[in-house]
Amino acid sequence: MSIDIMPSGEACGATVTGVDLTRGLDEATVAEIRAAWMAHKVLAFPDQAMSDGDLEQFTLNFGPFGNDPYFEAIDGHPHIAAIHRAAAETTGLFADNWHADWTFQEFPPDGTCLYGKVIPPVGGDTLYVNQQAALEAMPAELRARIDGKIAVHSARGAYAPDGAYGESDGQDRAMKITYSDTAYDTQTHPLIRVHPETGRETLYSTLGYIIGIENDIENDDAGIALLRDLWQWQTREEFQYRHKWQTNMLVMWDNRCVLHKATGGYAGHERLLHRTTIGYNAAVRSQPDDLVAS
Ligand code: SIN
Repeated sequence: MSIDIMPSGEACGATVTGVDLTRGLDEATVAEIRAAWMAHKVLAFPDQAMSDGDLEQFTLNFGPFGNDPYFEAIDGHPHIAAIHRAAAETTGLFADNWHADWTFQEFPPDGTCLYGKVIPPVGGDTLYVNQQAALEAMPAELRARIDGKIAVHSARGAYAPDGAYGESDGQDRAMKITYSDTAYDTQTHPLIRVHPETGRETLYSTLGYIIGIENDIENDDAGIALLRDLWQWQTREEFQYRHKWQTNMLVMWDNRCVLHKATGGYAGHERLLHRTTIGYNAAVRSQPDDLVAS
């Protein structure tokens, strides 16, 4: 089977048709999808009436399940989380800041799959920003400031008891988020990473989870200024792709080279998507991974 790939025309992203994700995929089709994923970083598959089991099977074509430490899974499916906002909900929007998923882990997930179940008639787009393009176009002066720098990642701002989704989070949140003292842990990763499958250099920086630069952690003016300047560059509109959802659409993204963020604009409407993470997959790495700082 040959799949059809339509690039978004923006900085990344493509729509894939000509494949039925409710059926088991053969090796050649998985390889085609993986190649398209590496090329476009975010793939959208419209008109896929998938069950939760289909979503799990699709995910496992690309790696093991990742570890989702702060989501409660849906009943009967320990690796699926519901990204859910009720129509009348008043809490802050989930995930509306730029991030790649779970970068505070020693081996963060390679990718994420998100499947649209209830999509509001307006708003609720997901934004992506291409970190390979951002690095390629980066001014030499900024590049010189980040070269060789190691970032300190932590989930504390979001998932610690005093984090955004901690003890004081809104009582009417439909999404099942948990918080824990484990969120105070830290993990270091280089700010510039060689993508372990494509061999292309990419930024691996996510202000949502970075709390400082190693040896300059917190309260250091130069470290904070560097992270601010980097964030302003890496999220520029020219590197972005705006994804518009449909019911029964599956999207997969590569956490190693894109950031993403949720957007609002659908007050009064429900929004429900089912999510799996594609874990760190040692088998697909064509070269040693420089992910973990020594
Ligand atoms: C996420 O970050 O997993 C959710 C993105 C979205 O809701 O658009």
